[in-house]
Amino acid sequence: MTVRIVLGAQFGDEAKGKIVDFLAASARYVVRSAGGPNAGHTIVLPEGPVVLHQLACGVLRHGVTGVSGPGMVIQPFKLEEELTGLEQRGLLRGEVVLSDRAHVLLPLHEVEDAWEDELRGRRRPEASLGTTRSGIGPAYADRAGRFGLRLGELGRPAVLRERLELLYATKPHLANLPPIDELAGRLTEVGTRLAPLVRTTEPILWDAIARGENVLLEGAQSALLDVDFGTYPYVTSSHPTSAGALVGSGIPPTELDGVVGVAKAYCTRVGAGPFPTEEVGERGEFLRRVGGERGATTGRPRRCGWLDLVLLRYVARLNGLTSLAITKVDVLGGVDEVPVGVGYRMPDGSTVRDGLPSDADELARAEPIYETWPGWPEFHAHLRERIRREGATALPSELRRFLAFVEDATGVPVEYVGYGAHRDETVWLGPPTARRRRPGISAWNP
Ligand code: IMP
Repeated sequence: MTVRIVLGAQFGDEAKGKIVDFLAASARYVVRSAGGPNAGHTIVLPEGPVVLHQLACGVLRHGVTGVSGPGMVIQPFKLEEELTGLEQRGLLRGEVVLSDRAHVLLPLHEVEDAWEDELRGRRRPEASLGTTRSGIGPAYADRAGRFGLRLGELGRPAVLRERLELLYATKPHLANLPPIDELAGRLTEVGTRLAPLVRTTEPILWDAIARGENVLLEGAQSALLDVDFGTYPYVTSSHPTSAGALVGSGIPPTELDGVVGVAKAYCTRVGAGPFPTEEVGERGEFLRRVGGERGATTGRPRRCGWLDLVLLRYVARLNGLTSLAITKVDVLGGVDEVPVGVGYRMPDGSTVRDGLPSDADELARAEPIYETWPGWPEFHAHLRERIRREGATALPSELRRFLAFVEDATGVPVEYVGYGAHRDETVWLGPPTARRRRPGISAWNP
């Protein structure tokens, strides 16, 4: 029995969906613990690609329950569309459970999100965050302000009405909102349709753990977008960290067995914010084209650059990573040299190898220091076939050396490698504890 968290170890879009789907094969429950329709987890099934936004990856597997957990903000109309889309394609194979404590993200939050980001940009264009405009910030703000509405409350007309009236009173800046009656009616209808799926999910998970079943917590977004520990204010409004995954699912820390951080062999970011190893030229364009780097939710082109070990070490410590999944190694196949960021040179002449400056502007001024690693061969069909047949021993030796370097630099063993978009293109490198000590809270530079 294990309880494991899978989380993004960069700025999002690390192919977490693919790793969660791979691990879901041996899980009983997969739980989304934070975020909402801003997420886009892509899984390439034999039937074609699927992008999940508000459902946990477990819903794609027979015998697995996908829980949309208490820490989420759920847009119920979009969720219904997601469910219908999967049903129509015959891909809804697992059970779906929605937490009664999850907050309802309303269409007015989407309007407010756009209004707020425009407001920031009006004062200073670079101040606009480039949110996904799916209403995340305002929905979490209303949750914290105690103005929110929860999924379990959609079936209580008097509560629904009172909350909406209060909520409308807090938003005089939003023009042309629908009449409260109309919104209340639509919410009651969608609430009635979703009601059979809505439960109190914590005891379900506690019982599963007590029975010895595998539970997987599926992180959305990424640790570097955490509202406290990311590149504030260029962050999302939830806690996509290991601690956040526990709070967002109601699972006690003492039940946790492992934390898998997912990072690409390079790095991308969508939206604004510092990105020290960004490549704006031809090489960035190469990564975007070969890696298919476009937002799964917004379709925006992603900013591309190199793996940043300063940030990865920070994420490893912050989240207590017990292993890493390094994805999209095939994208770099055939490249002569692979740069990796190992430190920053700061404007005052100092060098930083550890930690994330709490000031995003300071990080934006960091000049990366690179080490360059020899590239590995292209992932032709016969190499992919060999890896499928023989496992990790068939990975190119140059790539294995690169992975060993990442392990040394972070103190975290690489447990999985993703080498293609398809469901079966992930290889397990063996149990992490057998190879390396987990980092714990030890000093990096004693
Ligand atoms: P929000 O979460 O929509 O408020 O967006 C805040 C920041 O997080 C923006 O820079 C987004 O581009 C980024 N972001 C939010 N969700 C994701 C994601 O799933 N992948 C990558 N970036 C994301």
